[in-house]
Amino acid sequence: MANIILVGAQWGDEGKGKIIDVLTEQVDVVVRTQGGNNAGHTVFVGSQKYVLHLVPSGILRPRKTCVIANGVVIDPISLVEELDGLERLRVKVRGHFHISETAHLVMPYHRLLDEQREIAKGKHRIGTTKRGIGPAYGDKAARVGIRMLDLLDPERFQAILARRIKENNGFLRALGAPALSLRKVLDAYRTAGERLRPFVTNTVLLLHQAARQGKNILFEGAQGTFLDLDHGTYPFVTSSNTTAGGACTGSGIPPNRIDRVVGVVKAYTTRVGEGPLPTENTHIADLLHRMGREFGATTGRPRRCGWFDTVATRHAAMVNGIDDLAVTNLDGLDTVPVIQVAVAYRIHGRRCASMPSDTQLLAQSEPVYEEFPGWMTPTHQARRWRDLPPKARAYLRAIAKLTGAPLSIVSVGPSRDQTIFL
Ligand code: IMP
Repeated sequence: MANIILVGAQWGDEGKGKIIDVLTEQVDVVVRTQGGNNAGHTVFVGSQKYVLHLVPSGILRPRKTCVIANGVVIDPISLVEELDGLERLRVKVRGHFHISETAHLVMPYHRLLDEQREIAKGKHRIGTTKRGIGPAYGDKAARVGIRMLDLLDPERFQAILARRIKENNGFLRALGAPALSLRKVLDAYRTAGERLRPFVTNTVLLLHQAARQGKNILFEGAQGTFLDLDHGTYPFVTSSNTTAGGACTGSGIPPNRIDRVVGVVKAYTTRVGEGPLPTENTHIADLLHRMGREFGATTGRPRRCGWFDTVATRHAAMVNGIDDLAVTNLDGLDTVPVIQVAVAYRIHGRRCASMPSDTQLLAQSEPVYEEFPGWMTPTHQARRWRDLPPKARAYLRAIAKLTGAPLSIVSVGPSRDQTIFL
């Protein structure tokens, strides 16, 4: 193993949690570098289901160091709830878990502003998770954010918070929302801050020390390539860099210390929230929802579903530098007689092999499909490549080739052993 960045190569929810959990066995340190509790990584250990929002899923394995690095935005109340939930399930957190002192905080006004702005946008809404992620990163960029180290200094925190609440109450009132009480926010955040204090440290130094000792680091990406603030379907994106570069800025580990980038894709495509999804198809969505699949881990919203889109995944392979492809949810296609794969788009009558940067043009793009025969056989019991039906193998080979990245992992179910390494 080596230092590995794992990214979602579609619109999020690619099944990264499961692949991270499987890869974690071979690493020493797992790091979250961007996003916040908008993420929801589902991991099954035996029959126990864990949904993690902020804590890296490495916490579910003994003796792994887990880090929330500087690029993450942290809602302290939500993080405390998550830690309490893990400790109730007897997951050992102390001594294994570290939080960056320079990570920015998600404040109650961020959540309220997120919600109110979505309401105000009406049919032009983004479909955010309403966790306050956009406003929190907005404050960070505007240099008025509050960081973890501010929270741990009671006087400093009170002074900054008083200014921030005053300004944000003005915005909230203008949007018709109730104002926040400084006292209530102060009390709740101070309590959460004290609970988190033992975990807060300089994670840049911690990670570099681990790297110097030859430890392997896995950078756990959240969301997916097309939700990236710079490379996604703007404005229908999240507010962080979900692509591979975000792992370096979000952790302080430089690009020349990265050995591999693993891109995770579903065997089809899904998206939550608004924005273009060229291969969206209601038949495949109905089929997957009837199977009880494709409901959001964070919001419970039914995900939009469509066929595999190699125009998009080729782009993802390019901007992330994907060395290995992990394909998840293959079993979701077990009962589909004919499977379509987008190989190009038709935009205003012209065939186009690459993704347009203009989100409005992308919304008008019609996929050009290639058809593959379905295997119509359950795959969830396959444990080796040769256990898969030949038609499933042909499908996987084709999507990897069209994406331009070698296939290295196939997942046929949620549990750890339902994983095929090539
Ligand atoms: P936000 O990150 O809550 O601001 O939401 C912005 C967009 O990203 C919305 O379309 C969300 O549905 C989407 N999004 C945010 N986090 C995730 C995730 O973890 N999985 C899938 N979509 C996400």
